[in-house]
Amino acid sequence: MRKRFTSVHGGSMPAMHVVMRAFGVVLAALLAACGTLGHDGGAVSAGTPDQGVATAPVRYALPPMGWNSWNAFSCRVDEKKIRAVADAMASNGMAAAGYRYVTVDDCWVGGRDPKTGKLYADAHAFPGGIAALARYVHSKGLKFGLYTSGNVSTCAGMTTNRHPPGWPQGAKAGSLGHERVDAQTFADWGVDYIKLDLCGGQLSTFAAMRAGIAATGRPMYLSINPYSYSRTLRTRFADDGAFYAPAYADTSRISQDITERFASVESIVDIAAADVAWAVPGYFNDLDMLEVGHTLSADQDTAHFIMWAIMSSPLNAGNDVRTQSDATRALLTNPGVIAVNQDGLALPAVLDQADSTGAMQVWTKPLVQSGTRAVALFNRGASPIQAAVRFAGIGLNEPQKAWDLLTGTPLTITNGGVSVTVPATGARLIRLDGRDPVAVTGPLAAQPWIWMATRAGPAANAPDSEVGVKVWPPATARRHLPAGARPAAAIIAGGVAYRDGIAVSVPTQIVYRLGRQCSSFQSDIGLDSHAPATSRATFQVWADNVLLYDSGPLAAATPPKTVRVDISGRDTLRLVVTPRSGGQAGDRAAWADPSVVCASGVAGGP
Ligand code: GLA
Repeated sequence: MRKRFTSVHGGSMPAMHVVMRAFGVVLAALLAACGTLGHDGGAVSAGTPDQGVATAPVRYALPPMGWNSWNAFSCRVDEKKIRAVADAMASNGMAAAGYRYVTVDDCWVGGRDPKTGKLYADAHAFPGGIAALARYVHSKGLKFGLYTSGNVSTCAGMTTNRHPPGWPQGAKAGSLGHERVDAQTFADWGVDYIKLDLCGGQLSTFAAMRAGIAATGRPMYLSINPYSYSRTLRTRFADDGAFYAPAYADTSRISQDITERFASVESIVDIAAADVAWAVPGYFNDLDMLEVGHTLSADQDTAHFIMWAIMSSPLNAGNDVRTQSDATRALLTNPGVIAVNQDGLALPAVLDQADSTGAMQVWTKPLVQSGTRAVALFNRGASPIQAAVRFAGIGLNEPQKAWDLLTGTPLTITNGGVSVTVPATGARLIRLDGRDPVAVTGPLAAQPWIWMATRAGPAANAPDSEVGVKVWPPATARRHLPAGARPAAAIIAGGVAYRDGIAVSVPTQIVYRLGRQCSSFQSDIGLDSHAPATSRATFQVWADNVLLYDSGPLAAATPPKTVRVDISGRDTLRLVVTPRSGGQAGDRAAWADPSVVCASGVAGGP
């Protein structure tokens, strides 16, 4: 039996709620009488499931790790230095720690050959050519990355103040309009990673390069930067669903260029916090190349590295690894921090708690092993803080063990938490081992999730004006409201009101732990009928980073669809809604009557 109970197309909000509540009471009584509304294991109804659209496998499941020449060398880059960097990485423990890509940033281009239409390298700095350099890097067991721009010039080619003396004329060549031929050239040279920097060019360059890469048949990681020299896309470019970066890129920058100042690190962390919900599986928010090993203090370097790691950002070292100090090398290769960045669940952290001054922040992310959390304590203030972290707010049950991941040493749990000192403008990284709430048969709306991200960070921290994530019905929600959710006024999807569900402000993602105990997930989906006519949003269902369902873009007027997927043997369920084409962040959508069938358990009962 369908659980929809009244259509509200065209209804005004207040009237609609009254109608819905009245029908809801009647229908609940009727359904309970015929035994289908009870949480009796029959949570999956008989609606015809939507097939969704064809889906592609994730190209790269984890954030990339490597090194990039720009922060260390700017335009003073040449093949000798790059070979020496590869030598250093192969022997100093960085390659062993997971640093894989050696990327030559701007200033390698000599020009574009008018006869062949192909890019060539600056003969003075790269006399052996790029293909030979790539071969050398490969011979060290590393992969090779190369920069290009999405304009007619590279960024450095546009600004004379960055040019070294005698800068060659041809260096202005970028890839705009040449994406296909350049992707083929890069493939022929053995490139594994392309950094495509907009440099004030056209956004179409990203889709064109993606198509170019596909045409080569060579897997090449695509890292984009839509910000450089862009007046209109300063931050939050992703708020505009017309440019949906994960459709093209494997990672995208989210900010203007990092600088060697702690304020720069902090400002990028703040942008990353707001952009968490955009990081869908296989796509990572790029917080920019690291400044570790430059002029920040040792504590600031540590905080910078910990925050990049826990946000699941690409980790591209930006220092001169040929001459780095032991302390820098030790930090960059710290196994505890890297394990958090490279964790198989691949979730970015969310900001869970902050003290009243905002100086002390607690960031968390669930790790792939059930019942574990990485927790970063980020002290942005000018004084050390003795922080007592209570586990109660972190959504993990009964933590038994805590570890300091920087040192690998256990921490003592007292009074339901740990107490640690966090240096001024510094951070600590902790792992907690406890028990995750696991989904049980029945409606999902009121069940606790292990991670949730919405447009402006977790709803718990969003101002009241933000929609965030809301759960209906409030009667259930009041008792079982998952952390970060608020009671909804109603659940409307595609113009239909529902018995229960999760109303979200797009983009929003929610992750449940299934514990390999569940067999089926079902939900109706749709936009709120009050979304503007131009709204478009896509619903995706992922389990263990495998895409099980993709709705394609739904409009406000699209009637609800029914999703039903097999989740047998899966450990996590990830529900994702993102804006597309005419859609905007902040549009509203709903998972309506979402439910799971699991081996055991009853959820959401009165
Ligand atoms: C832009 C990018 C930097 C770097 C330079 C090179 O500023 O954001 O990361 O690639 O261009 O010119």
